[in-house]
Amino acid sequence: MDVSAIRKDFPVLQGDDAPIFFDSACTTLRPAQVLEAMSDYYEKYPSCGGRSIHKFGTRVTLEVDEARKSIHRFLNSERREEIIFVKNTTEAVNMVASCLGFERGDVVLTTDKEHNSNLVPWHELSRKKGVTYSVVRSNEDNTFSMENLKEMMSKKVRLVSMVHTSNLDGHTIPAKEIAEVVHDYGGLFMMDGAQSAPHLPVDVQDLDVDFFACSIHKMCGPSGMGVFYGKYDLLEELDTFIVGGDTVSDSTYEGCEILKPPHKFEGGLQNFSGIIGAGAAVDYLSNIGLVEIEEHSRALNRRGTKLLENVAGLEILGPDVENRGAILPFNMEGLDPHDVAMILDEVANIMIRSGMHCVHSWFNAHGVKGCSRASFYIYNTEEEVDILGEQIAKISEQFS
Ligand code: ALA
Repeated sequence: MDVSAIRKDFPVLQGDDAPIFFDSACTTLRPAQVLEAMSDYYEKYPSCGGRSIHKFGTRVTLEVDEARKSIHRFLNSERREEIIFVKNTTEAVNMVASCLGFERGDVVLTTDKEHNSNLVPWHELSRKKGVTYSVVRSNEDNTFSMENLKEMMSKKVRLVSMVHTSNLDGHTIPAKEIAEVVHDYGGLFMMDGAQSAPHLPVDVQDLDVDFFACSIHKMCGPSGMGVFYGKYDLLEELDTFIVGGDTVSDSTYEGCEILKPPHKFEGGLQNFSGIIGAGAAVDYLSNIGLVEIEEHSRALNRRGTKLLENVAGLEILGPDVENRGAILPFNMEGLDPHDVAMILDEVANIMIRSGMHCVHSWFNAHGVKGCSRASFYIYNTEEEVDILGEQIAKISEQFS
């Protein structure tokens, strides 16, 4: 992977004041290819897809279709109609919570490391519909426990909805094996792929996942864009979510004809520039290669982990580095995680994230107040990781 060529694609990395950006698990930087695709829409054909038949309108319709095809290829869905454009992963999880027709007594299982996007909807569903929401505890070493899942499975489990790769510690669950267990009991399996889709090859057919969601802003694409995948027959069965313009083929005062997926779920005027940017973003990542991307981030994490392991009073959270993908979460004795992030930003122009990373439930359960988190991506270099190591060592000497 040619990191120096990749870096040239990112306008924000040019110039002497470019940061060392280790916060890609939160949001990635965006390459010129994506920015251009998006501004082309506004500059060259700023119109409405799926409706007006003039040249601009037709071009938007075609570009949206191309973007859907790109994502269909990226996730290897069986049909491109299985790809639905949404705002973010959160919206997709809410869609399933609202539209699957849950009933009192149904059980929903998640991991014990869920982002609030895959936890709050289930608490709300318990409150509103009497659904039982339970978590499958991880092993002692913070890896996924297949044994605990099997113990909790029953015919009552309607949905197992799990984070594919944790934003807290980078651990990726054994999705294919989980899908098999869940399906044996007649349940459905959904994955929050916000951290996996940007970092490793995801083949929804091979994994046999029923629903999958990801957020395009973590994949070099625009904010406010997400993708919801569902097996086509399940999408047909799901109830409607947000309905209105472009979700029906016809309407009268007495009723309406709801369209088939994906249009059934894409109500109202869409974020055309965002959709086009999403297509450009996944094409950009596909051109680099997801296998290469995964290996690059892992190599940087190995290097960073080795450096930080030697720092006195520093504790790394999560499993061993081979099970932590692109994420390096840590705490320094006597220092607040936010202070560490602030010092790195002020002193060395290194951007990391600190806090509970929207995984409050895990931190509360473990009595930990939060952590500092460095996350690696395609534009990061070994030199940058070494600077992080040096700066953390200095902070430890001065403050810990
Ligand atoms: N889920 C994002 C993160 O982990 C916001 O930073």
